Amino acid sequence: MLGPVILAASRSDKMRRLVSAAPVTKPVVNRFIPGETVDQVVPIVTDLTGSGLEVTLDVVGEDITTPEQATAARDAYLELIERLKPLGLGTKAEMSVKLSMFGQALENGHELALANVRPVVEAAAAIGTTVTLDAEDHTTLDSMFAIHEELRKDFPQTGCVIQAYLFRTEEDARRLAANGSRVRIVKGAYKEPASVAYQDKTEIDKAYVRILRILMEGEGYPMIGSHDPRLIAITQELARRAGRKMDEYEFQMLYGIRSDEHLRLAAEGHRMRVYTAYGTDWYGYFMRRLAEKPANLLFFVRSMITK
Ligand code: FDA
Repeated sequence: MLGPVILAASRSDKMRRLVSAAPVTKPVVNRFIPGETVDQVVPIVTDLTGSGLEVTLDVVGEDITTPEQATAARDAYLELIERLKPLGLGTKAEMSVKLSMFGQALENGHELALANVRPVVEAAAAIGTTVTLDAEDHTTLDSMFAIHEELRKDFPQTGCVIQAYLFRTEEDARRLAANGSRVRIVKGAYKEPASVAYQDKTEIDKAYVRILRILMEGEGYPMIGSHDPRLIAITQELARRAGRKMDEYEFQMLYGIRSDEHLRLAAEGHRMRVYTAYGTDWYGYFMRRLAEKPANLLFFVRSMITK
């Protein structure tokens, strides 16, 4: 019940100002977003990869309003890649990007986002790693998939994300599973209307399994983005049935959520990638984490009251 209300608030500027300015917000935010600067995140990358985990790094930010902000986003990723270079981690540290942060919603946004993301993908390839295009709300996806296809002509390792809650996704999965691409499957984190998306959790879970089967039986590289213990177990079973070895798919979870499970799966020999977001514009990302688990909101509110 609370989830949709929090998701609506995630798009409110008034709430953004209120939550971002509250001094008590910081410790709660840090659980999900461990730093604001590249200097703070690099040691975290070293720690995580030192524990046998892999990472995907997201410089938080979305819904920008000027082309200059899009250029700044590009530069933030380029700086990050420059800082990762001496670590020599290759694909153990990849990047996740939101095209809205690269200007997708601005005038000529499709071209602008492509022009801004391409140098990031190039720089990532130059240090032996890759980029995954996150999935945002459904109105942005045709453009995201077209940019993904364009980038893959030169950088076939470029990944993308599909969301189980959308009716369109089984079809997208079929197309993407056919040509060796890296595809992250997630449940979906945005507030979507009933005309395009399942609203019921059980329906979303069932769709997730159908899509997972398509990906596992296909020729791509499935990346399972979920903390759901049932889906983790189903993934292992479907991978076994499809004859996939442990390095022919990977699990992905968010930083700060079920961290013991990250280590458990890695210790079993699985590839486990931790999605690690950092930066100052954390509001939208943080609110989606609250919406996924209303208990997080109670924790947040309690910390405001007891301070
Ligand atoms: P579910 O929400 O059912 O959670 C299962 C269990 O995990 C919960 O019972 C709880 O224990 C734990 N859990 C889940 N979320 C939690 C939270 N916020 N706080 C505390 N515990 C929590 N979405 C999107 O639309 N576009 C994208 O590009 C991405 N990218 C992405 C990358 C990765 C690596 C992950 C893991 C997820 C995303 N998502 C995303 C988010 C995704 O759509 C979804 O909202 C969350 O993963 C929550 O769904 P689960 O599959 O974890 O199941």
